[in-house]
Amino acid sequence: MPPNPNPRIIVALDVSTQEDALALVSHLDPRLCRVKVGQELFTRIGPRVVEALQNRGFSIFLDLKFHDIPNTVAGACRAAAALEVWMVNVHASGGRRMMEAAREAVEASTARPLLTAVTVLTSLDAEDLAAIGLGGSPETHVINLARLAELAGLDGVICSPQELDGLKGRVSDDFLRVTPGIRSADSAKVDQKRVMSPLQAIGLGAHYLVIGRPITAAPDPAEALNAIAAGIEAKGS
Ligand code: C5P
Repeated sequence: MPPNPNPRIIVALDVSTQEDALALVSHLDPRLCRVKVGQELFTRIGPRVVEALQNRGFSIFLDLKFHDIPNTVAGACRAAAALEVWMVNVHASGGRRMMEAAREAVEASTARPLLTAVTVLTSLDAEDLAAIGLGGSPETHVINLARLAELAGLDGVICSPQELDGLKGRVSDDFLRVTPGIRSADSAKVDQKRVMSPLQAIGLGAHYLVIGRPITAAPDPAEALNAIAAGIEAKGS
């Protein structure tokens, strides 16, 4: 398969040691995927895990979901940009000024990462939102926060596949949708309740797919990645 200059698959490295992270990626082709470093791995190991993965050819989505006052989040985004990561994210509920400060910080960096926002955590339902004083449905908040993120000049949002349809026409088509909760038609759902196949999600407007266990827990992770990547390529996506 020819190398894809913009792989859409982001493999979630949900492990807690650098050894495990490197063992996992040793099966993966950086021309077919990027990798996501989240709060646990980064908090345990720190920037050196990012560097080690970059040295193996991977571009990194640093999934730390910053949420603080604008000045503090701007500093955190500057620090992430200095690591030359491909993507970094914040919580849209930090507000427009916070997101603008984050955007200005990455824009001023020499290697500008993509900047995306989490809208509403998919672990929260309407009852949870009411308990923190937010009436209305999660879907309404997702759309409002996605629009706010676009107004603040961010590059996109992280959203569940179920939210893709609601975003159509509410934000521009090229505003990035980064989507976890992906399962191939034949893979086990594990603890993900609302899932979608890679091609369904792309059909609904997803630009990037965050995929963990369907690749990382597969008997042959390289084969699982290749199969998903080939399916996407075959669709000409
Ligand atoms: O193994 P799995 O494919 O379920 O992993 C998905 C990744 O996306 C994990 O890192 C998980 O934390 C993240 N995620 C998610 N659902 C969300 C937000 C993030 O599964 N709503």
